[in-house]
Amino acid sequence: MENINWSDLSFGYIQTDYNVRCYYRDGKWGELEVCSSEIINIHMSATCLHYGQEAFEGLKAYRGKDGKVRIFRMDENGKRMQASGRGIKMPEVPLELFEAAVLKAVRLNERFIPPYESGSSLYIRPLLIGTGACIGVQPAEEYLFLVFITPVGPYFKGGFQPTKICITREFDRAAPQGTGTIKVGGNYAASLVAGEQAKEKGYTAVLYLDPKEKKYLDECGPANFFGIRGNSYITPQSNSILPSITNKSLMQLAENMGLTVEHRPVPVEELATFEEAAECGTAAVIAPISQIDDLDENKSYVYLPDGKLGVVCEKLYNKLRAIQYGDEPDPYGWVTVLE
Ligand code: PLP
Ligand code: COI
Repeated sequence: MENINWSDLSFGYIQTDYNVRCYYRDGKWGELEVCSSEIINIHMSATCLHYGQEAFEGLKAYRGKDGKVRIFRMDENGKRMQASGRGIKMPEVPLELFEAAVLKAVRLNERFIPPYESGSSLYIRPLLIGTGACIGVQPAEEYLFLVFITPVGPYFKGGFQPTKICITREFDRAAPQGTGTIKVGGNYAASLVAGEQAKEKGYTAVLYLDPKEKKYLDECGPANFFGIRGNSYITPQSNSILPSITNKSLMQLAENMGLTVEHRPVPVEELATFEEAAECGTAAVIAPISQIDDLDENKSYVYLPDGKLGVVCEKLYNKLRAIQYGDEPDPYGWVTVLE
């Protein structure tokens, strides 16, 4: 293998040995196929290319101190992909098929799973696309479900270093009754201009507001948002936020640590009351936020100005990582250990 420097990986694509594919034809799913090509050969009029019939997932596998490989909450990603399928008229991938494909893709590429304590992990990317040819706007008759994997480092440069993000009212990533709650490519296309503009100004991400009233917090481009105030873990609820599996896990951990969990609409002004703020997601894990600039209102919300990590964020981070890597027991049944 091409000498991978495990401790120096970014969140990028590295070629691996195999991917796993399954085709939906004549109203049913076929058998799982193993493939060593990175190329998909599809019709030029496939619905994924024209009408956005595309959904994806992101989950991770971790190698523990004991050498064992653990996959985090794979069933939740499978269920969310089913919701995405329903949301844009694609067939649901049965949970057993989803899990079998993930396990196979990880096992076949085991040599790409980063070692314990390298700071990297194995990112698993399931993909569901409409491959049937259509020219009228309608769902395809044929689909491809594919799982590939790639070893990754931290999503944000600097890993667990606090980052600056911004609020802008100029763009939405999803419509009020749109596709924000599912993981479809169109949401990410819609976030690209705002995301690039933010990066040019020195921010790592955009914190979107609710697209209907622009009064409440939604989420960040690739992650959910939460704030800590006193003994409370506060995270926004709306019709346009992707239900993050990391956030769902953190809410549970926070509750078990004795914090009060508030999952509700969060007005923008409440940002001024938080002691800690962070982004959370599979790729981001917990990325602490040092400052949020509201670009339209010329206002800044500053957290951790001395670059230190928030005490509560750090506690949550350590707990989550300990379960993911198998350093601590998993009382929730979140982890699938590869035998
Ligand atoms: N929000 C968006 C828009 C995302 O793309 C992601 C990444 O999957 C998340 C939140 C975090 O979700 P999860 O914790 O399930 O990875
Ligand atoms: C994830 O956190 O898994 C994501 O999918 C975020 C981003 C890479 C789209």
